[in-house]
Amino acid sequence: MKVDIKTKQEIDLMREACRLTAEVRDLAAAAVRPGATTADIDAVVRNFCKERKVAASFLGYEGYPGALCVSINDEIIHGIPSPHRMIMPGDLVKVDVGVCKHGFNGDTARTVAVGVTDPKLLDLVETTKKCLAAGIAAAGPGVHLGDVGAAIQEVAESKGYGVVRDYIGHGVGRTIHEDPPVPNYGKRGKGFILKPGMTIAIEPMITLGTYKVDVLEDEWTVVTRDGSMAAHFEHTVLITDDGAEILTLPADYP
Ligand code: MF3
Ligand code: CO
Ligand code: CO
Repeated sequence: MKVDIKTKQEIDLMREACRLTAEVRDLAAAAVRPGATTADIDAVVRNFCKERKVAASFLGYEGYPGALCVSINDEIIHGIPSPHRMIMPGDLVKVDVGVCKHGFNGDTARTVAVGVTDPKLLDLVETTKKCLAAGIAAAGPGVHLGDVGAAIQEVAESKGYGVVRDYIGHGVGRTIHEDPPVPNYGKRGKGFILKPGMTIAIEPMITLGTYKVDVLEDEWTVVTRDGSMAAHFEHTVLITDDGAEILTLPADYP
């Protein structure tokens, strides 16, 4: 497997792309409210990219028609923005966005619970966040990707939740999807070994039911096979000399 090790200059460009990606992710998330359509969220991303003179990484990627992915409830990932899809109170909305600047990409996602009161759903969201944190905490130089996957899987499965297998994290940099594959499950001590200068997207997709998925007739939207609710969080992280640094934190993060 050929995995890109970035130079100091390239890492600075990744930082810039990821800072912008985090900013637009949070703008998109703030626009998620009852009555908004998913096309409204797409417009937020398009306007941001135009103003900042950057590209929306997903637009046109393998023919994808949106500037971001917006996936609701049992939709896990790759929901296509539409003026006919309105966000309702009680929805679990996943926004996933990428920005490309100077040839480098960031990739980040979060789940927004819109007026959700069901404690099961709120726990799913919190647990998925914890899965991402556990994966990032496990990552570092000399670490096997099996260690990262196992850390994520344990958090989710200790609650009885499903860990999606068919879609996983990935290397990210000059392209949005590159080696190495970064599964959200695995065995400790197995798999690819991370090195400083690698940048990867860690992105647990967790469900209240089965881990099995289907793709809708639009050929993009990935849904849970049993119709159960799903959550998704994603950060782009840099492997450093002593751990992993999140590149897609909000700019005002302490
Ligand atoms: N953001 C997705 C990921 O995390 C990729 C979306 S590609 C698209 O890997 F074409 F569906 F937008
Ligand atoms: Co993503
Ligand atoms: Co990704």
